[in-house]
Amino acid sequence: MGFYKKYKRLNILLYLFVKILILNSCNLNNFKSQMKSYFGSLPNGEKIYKYKLSNGYMSVEIINYGGIITNINIPNSQGINTDVVLGFDTFDQYIEEHPYFGAIIGRYGNRIANGKFSLNGINYQLAKNNGENSLHGGLIGFDKVLWSVKELDDDTDPGIKLTYFSKNMEEGYPGNVQIDVTYILTKENELKILYEAITDSPTVINLTNHSYFNLGGESSGDILDHFLTINADSYLPVDKNMIPTGEIRNVKNTPFDFSEMKKIGLEIEIQNNQLIIGKGYDHCWVLNDYGKGIRKIAEVKSINTGINMEVYSDQPGVQFYTGNFLDGSLKSKKLNKYEKRSGFCLETQHFPDSPNQPSFPNVILDPDKKYQTQTWYKFSTKTY
Ligand code: GLA
Repeated sequence: MGFYKKYKRLNILLYLFVKILILNSCNLNNFKSQMKSYFGSLPNGEKIYKYKLSNGYMSVEIINYGGIITNINIPNSQGINTDVVLGFDTFDQYIEEHPYFGAIIGRYGNRIANGKFSLNGINYQLAKNNGENSLHGGLIGFDKVLWSVKELDDDTDPGIKLTYFSKNMEEGYPGNVQIDVTYILTKENELKILYEAITDSPTVINLTNHSYFNLGGESSGDILDHFLTINADSYLPVDKNMIPTGEIRNVKNTPFDFSEMKKIGLEIEIQNNQLIIGKGYDHCWVLNDYGKGIRKIAEVKSINTGINMEVYSDQPGVQFYTGNFLDGSLKSKKLNKYEKRSGFCLETQHFPDSPNQPSFPNVILDPDKKYQTQTWYKFSTKTY
């Protein structure tokens, strides 16, 4: 074979090789794409990575510290890319104090009164990090730990599985617990979060995600103009320490009625004892149809951007929190300030203080059982 022929053959082979490489990495058939990039380091040198899940239309970015969702980008009704979650552009801001932006919450999401509970006759004392209460897992909850990450390459949808081992008596909770949290972005624009846990001795567990959404865009002001529905006939009133009183109160004729689409800001400032205690909405709604598997529990829309979010979950409750404690001290990604009510959370979960309230659904995990729950946030954009 002459030099020219050999050269041509080599070129064709090289061309085919590069094409296969490109096709594999972009997975053009289903627009699946997953990217890992360096985001920063912990003071002890451990590296923090950001994982970007894209489906060709929208993307979700997650870091291995706290399993934090840092960005959710979706085109608005004008086709302009809009980031709909509060958070930061630099890792250092995430290790400073912040109110659980985007993080996985555990072992026990929400409040446990006096940081105390008893299980099988043994009393446990947790750290009090919220007045007299223990909140969101204690001083170093799952939002402040490093998770190991497995990229899920075998599925058609991009995803990652995060794993954390919580040792016996960590933050005062009994049992060695393995927790797996899987994030998947589907072609239907659903961010699916699957939570799993197993333990070697009885413990309590209540996992959630603490993303703050602003469907108008993360630096666009407050969320009071968003329209919300929550599929719940009742909610849990709280005492002055934000602990449920045990009453399950009907939402009818109260500002807590979101059974039909209503502006979040419509009644938030009215004189209502529960709104005064919460400084706005910061309550757990008792969702309808608990026990019947995953169902639609809420929907939110911004007319300005046309961005809509539906929430599906198999959980009994959702903490609807209107960012009442944001006070302008944190800088947003666009270097604005995160002021009061610049984001809202819909934290799907079991009821607060369940370990002390026997009438609430069970939160005990025994060694022969597997904890398995899921929540999906489904996005779409409309023109109004
Ligand atoms: C939860 C609580 C709120 C507040 C935020 C974080 O959602 O219910 O009261 O503590 O976390 O600031």
